[in-house]
Amino acid sequence: MAEKKKRDHFGSKIGIIAAAVGSAVGLGNIYRFPCMAGENGGGAFLIVYLGIVLALGLPMMVSEFMIGRRAQKNPVGAFKALAPDAKGWALIGYTGVLCGFLILAFYTTVAGWTLESVYKSVINYYHGKDLATIEQGFNDSINMIFRPLLWQAVFIFISAFVIAKGISKGIEKYSKILMPTLTVILIILCVKSLMLPGAFEGLKFFFKPDFSKIDDQVLISALGQAFFSMSLGMGALITYGSYISKKDNLVTTSLMVGLSDTFVAILAGIIIFPAAFSFGIQPEAGPSLAFNTLPMLFNQMKGGYFFCLLFFILLVIAAWTSALSLLEVIVSYMIEELKLSRRKATIYSSVGAFIISILATMSLHNGSSLTVFGLTIFDGLDKITSMVFMTLGGLFTVIFLGWKVKKQDFENEFTNGGTVNMRLRKIFYYIIKFIAPAAITVIMVSQFII
Ligand code: TRP
Repeated sequence: MAEKKKRDHFGSKIGIIAAAVGSAVGLGNIYRFPCMAGENGGGAFLIVYLGIVLALGLPMMVSEFMIGRRAQKNPVGAFKALAPDAKGWALIGYTGVLCGFLILAFYTTVAGWTLESVYKSVINYYHGKDLATIEQGFNDSINMIFRPLLWQAVFIFISAFVIAKGISKGIEKYSKILMPTLTVILIILCVKSLMLPGAFEGLKFFFKPDFSKIDDQVLISALGQAFFSMSLGMGALITYGSYISKKDNLVTTSLMVGLSDTFVAILAGIIIFPAAFSFGIQPEAGPSLAFNTLPMLFNQMKGGYFFCLLFFILLVIAAWTSALSLLEVIVSYMIEELKLSRRKATIYSSVGAFIISILATMSLHNGSSLTVFGLTIFDGLDKITSMVFMTLGGLFTVIFLGWKVKKQDFENEFTNGGTVNMRLRKIFYYIIKFIAPAAITVIMVSQFII
């Protein structure tokens, strides 16, 4: 029987960190975070964001790891196993699986653009073109029917390829190669960007706090961004937690993962803003910033061909290792609850995600009627997953851990049976039981009232 077989696990502490940082560090850090900071008061946003990461994000990360490791199951199975008398809690797991499909749908679209951009860099497409021409080219590619879908298919395929190999020989092995590569590329690009004339202006914009821009909108944006960036609220870390060894300290693991994730987001800002400023570009350009403005800037630099290529490879790696964690949520659910083989589960989930992502991609075509509430399906999926699914998922996950899981089990898991984190356990319990649920609720409700 499938269940009796020993579950695959991460083989080493480094492996866990690489895989979990791989999940967390994604398009959300390199592409979404700098835009958010740019729009919401630069340094002021950064401070709010850091506060949320420390006070809420990290405890929630520990919580998800705890639930997964305790139950040794996928998100649906985990809630069932920890609350055998109240199966309704499994609903959190089911919405997590659904959310996995929905995030993958628009994530794959953007990942497709990153592959297209690698291709364009390789053939030296950007060379000598001005911003308007590059933008036009980008819009033309988005409006093509098959080309974006082809890149998406390639992206889903390379993700499925790794997932099909399982945890230690798939996710862990590839993360251990890809994440160090990503780090090296980040550092090279940072150094390059900081050496540009006028870099200081960009840094000032990024780090200088403009407190007049802080309002409730900033709070909810920062919360949504933190959840998205740290991969919280849909079971990805419950799933990874179920593959973590019983001996690992979940608090230090979460600290390393959460802080690396934040650090990378800041580094991305350090790459993007100085570059934008030194060439006199307004940094509020959204998607266009990464996909059009930066190639144009690289164009004008010495060694631009090389740096442009590196930048897009960086985006591909970031997206790839994140997509692994999204797919694994669905796949682990299908294997353990629906009793499919890993191979079949991988095929079904990736084909399913691809089909939804076709809609997201087509909705971006000029004059497309694929809209919901006035948003394209693409934007709608982005908004609804981070503002509704992930926030509610995260809220109910901490409520579950604080109020439904036995206190004894809670402490056992948090302290690895009384060997670590003994001092922290009381305050942590308090945060999970009261503070985190209250804080998330207040932030969510305030956005509707004001
Ligand atoms: N954290 C990733 C990013 O920043 C995206 C991601 C991967 C994610 N897995 C997730 C978001 C699970 C929410 C839930 O790009």
